[in-house]
Amino acid sequence: MTLIHIVCGARPNFIKAAPLYKALSEQSFSRTKIIHTGQHYDDHLSGCFFRDLDLPLPHFSLNIGSGSHSHQTAHTMLAYDKVLSEEKPDLVIVIGDINATLACALTAKKQGIKVAHLEAGLRNKDLFMPEEINRVMVDAIADLHWTPSIEASNNLINESISPHKIKFVGNILIDSYHQIKDKIEKCYAWKAYALLPQQYILCTLHRPLNVDSRDTLAGILHVLGQLPLPVVFLVHPRTRKTLETIESIPKILKIVDPLGYIEFMSLLSNACYVISDSGGIQEETTYLNIPCFTLRENTERPITVTTGSNTLVSLDTLLEQVRNPKTGSIPSLWDGKTCLRILESLKTALFL
Ligand code: UD1
Ligand code: UDP
Repeated sequence: MTLIHIVCGARPNFIKAAPLYKALSEQSFSRTKIIHTGQHYDDHLSGCFFRDLDLPLPHFSLNIGSGSHSHQTAHTMLAYDKVLSEEKPDLVIVIGDINATLACALTAKKQGIKVAHLEAGLRNKDLFMPEEINRVMVDAIADLHWTPSIEASNNLINESISPHKIKFVGNILIDSYHQIKDKIEKCYAWKAYALLPQQYILCTLHRPLNVDSRDTLAGILHVLGQLPLPVVFLVHPRTRKTLETIESIPKILKIVDPLGYIEFMSLLSNACYVISDSGGIQEETTYLNIPCFTLRENTERPITVTTGSNTLVSLDTLLEQVRNPKTGSIPSLWDGKTCLRILESLKTALFL
């Protein structure tokens, strides 16, 4: 029987791992194990996603924790190296673009184990972003690339990756959403903040360029304070550290700890619009056709701008741009059936 590892280390990985784990564990050809590297460890960034999305407890927890990029990557490699030596899986699936993704892909390849990359081919050509380094490096060595869009497949072809290794499977996040859509629709999360549907703005920020400098974050808060509706600002721990050094926070901001996936998607689904610098949120808003203003200079997910409801904004123009919220349409194969296409691709790759 084929032994498959699914590696996950941080919030967006857990969400994407859930439907894939479910689909794979229903197959008779494979045994699948979850490897949690421990990059995210607080319950509201880790444990709550396992509960919300019915993921089993990880089969292996590497407990790497926080540190510099090199610290996280190196320690994850050392820890996963041992697990791989004991386990000898036939395939390692890595997800997205976090440090765990690169560390585990590299470790597996060095042990001669095949690697599949879920969410392959995303590019913004910005090598100052640690995630872009991870994306390029993982795609350079992976054996199988599952892409969410034709553009992502083309990026890989442009990097001379053999087309037979590339499969356009669609967006796994939409499978995650469909897996628990009923629970999301019965959640009514806005009530906890005394808000009404469509009468609030949802905000998340965690990119180092936006949140690591006190002056930059204070400038963003000042602009958010001038928005026409209350803002639910879900504060990632990276952001919290800087936020704690800022004395005056505008009253229309409701500062809240990160939420689990069900509560979060309930708030997102009923927001008037969203302001964020997240990768996944650009996609979820596109799927739900909710205007999203992404506070970044570029995006590795351009389809959310060309086809979807996402707009790239700078702080200087944010207040003007939110007056013109954009609607869009759903990109091809963002249909909740990505896992089925991954299974087909896997069976072909494993000669089943
Ligand atoms: C990481 C990913 C980023 C992803 C994000 C998802 C990389 C390079 N970055 O960024 O791509 O978008 O996760 O949210 O892999 N911390 C806690 N509790 C935790 C985890 C972290 O308090 O459970 C704090 C620590 O002080 C840590 C800081 O948050 O230093 C940043 O965490 P880290 O995982 O290094 O990066 P993220 O900013 O979360
Ligand atoms: N998310 C969540 N709770 C929150 C904020 C985000 O469940 O408080 C989910 C959101 O639905 C999305 C994912 O986390 O799927 C995105 O994670 P994040 O923005 O941390 O990472 P990125 O996608 O930028 O790598």
